[in-house]
Amino acid sequence: TKGGYEHYMYKEIHEQPGALRRTTQSRLNTHAGGVELEEFPPESFADVKQVHLLAMGTSHHAGMYAASLLNSRGIPAYAFMAGEYSVIKPPVTPDTLVVAVSQSGETADTLDAVRRARAAGARTLAVTNVVGSSITRECDDELLIRAGPEIGVAATKTFSSQVTALTLLTERIVEDVTGAKSPEARDLMEALSRLPGDVQEVLDTSMAREIAIEYEGSDAYFFIGRGAAHPVALEGALKFKEISYEHAEGFAASELKHGPLALVTPLSPVFAIFTGHEDEATLSNVKEVQARGAPVIAITSDRSGEVTEFADHVLRIPDTHPDIAGVLANVQLQLVAYHAADLLERPIDKPRNLAKCVTVE
Ligand code: M6R
Repeated sequence: TKGGYEHYMYKEIHEQPGALRRTTQSRLNTHAGGVELEEFPPESFADVKQVHLLAMGTSHHAGMYAASLLNSRGIPAYAFMAGEYSVIKPPVTPDTLVVAVSQSGETADTLDAVRRARAAGARTLAVTNVVGSSITRECDDELLIRAGPEIGVAATKTFSSQVTALTLLTERIVEDVTGAKSPEARDLMEALSRLPGDVQEVLDTSMAREIAIEYEGSDAYFFIGRGAAHPVALEGALKFKEISYEHAEGFAASELKHGPLALVTPLSPVFAIFTGHEDEATLSNVKEVQARGAPVIAITSDRSGEVTEFADHVLRIPDTHPDIAGVLANVQLQLVAYHAADLLERPIDKPRNLAKCVTVE
């Protein structure tokens, strides 16, 4: 049941602290800064030379996020939209780890792509929320995200749990491949142990409804971010368009000047995601859109610095490790999308034309 909430989506947004506790349960060693995955004995990933992440929709954004973390640690990683991977010859070698990311474990595009990768000789791993789903049968191994059942068509808590599980996997791959924990590991594990409480703080203090009210009736809604914040921008826009039916687009902040800036007007609020990585560069993009009259809503942990000074509004997130700040920013954007759709009285749990699980290609 919806347990007193008006929509499953809102309930599931609020279930995130518990979901994240389950995702990390008995997997975090904050003391040693290590990751313990009972499914994978030491050195399970020692031979991995590159990682392909295959997924669709929100799960693809989680895959992009993981690719960003892996690449930043020197492990070559590529996130593919599974439906596009199926139209190429899988560019795999026997030392490619192919990770299929799917909440349901039943998405046709993702199943087909991972089947092709496996047939081409890659090792395959399913990262899913559903025990015994088709994707777990197609793959050599599985890593469960343990978010609990998700009913709303809009994926919310499963994105947070996917990113968290993939962050754990990233650190394990780095440790197995290099024989040492990444320099980030200890701080990141600590940040992950605080993440459920940090998400709760966002839920308790968010001003997302006020922002949704202020900008109701805009022509379009844009989302920008760099590095791991780029997939968060895409995810913020996907959630917004999917349930509000308003025009929303996400861009890499670096892409703005190469075209999208032409769309920016005083009637297109821009949500800018700051994670503590490359914030200076994103701030200069903020100034560019403001010069075209667009209001800027910064999602940031900054309290008194330049970001807060320049932004028209701030949606605050707790200070945390930059590699995981995107999860907190995304919770703010989930709430903005929810309230925008609620103000428009949309059928939030069952948006038009969409199904929870896409079982045809
Ligand atoms: O079950 P999956 O994670 O494989 O589903 C993939 C997409 O269909 C899904 O994330 C979709 O984009 C959601 N409606 C997004 O909210």
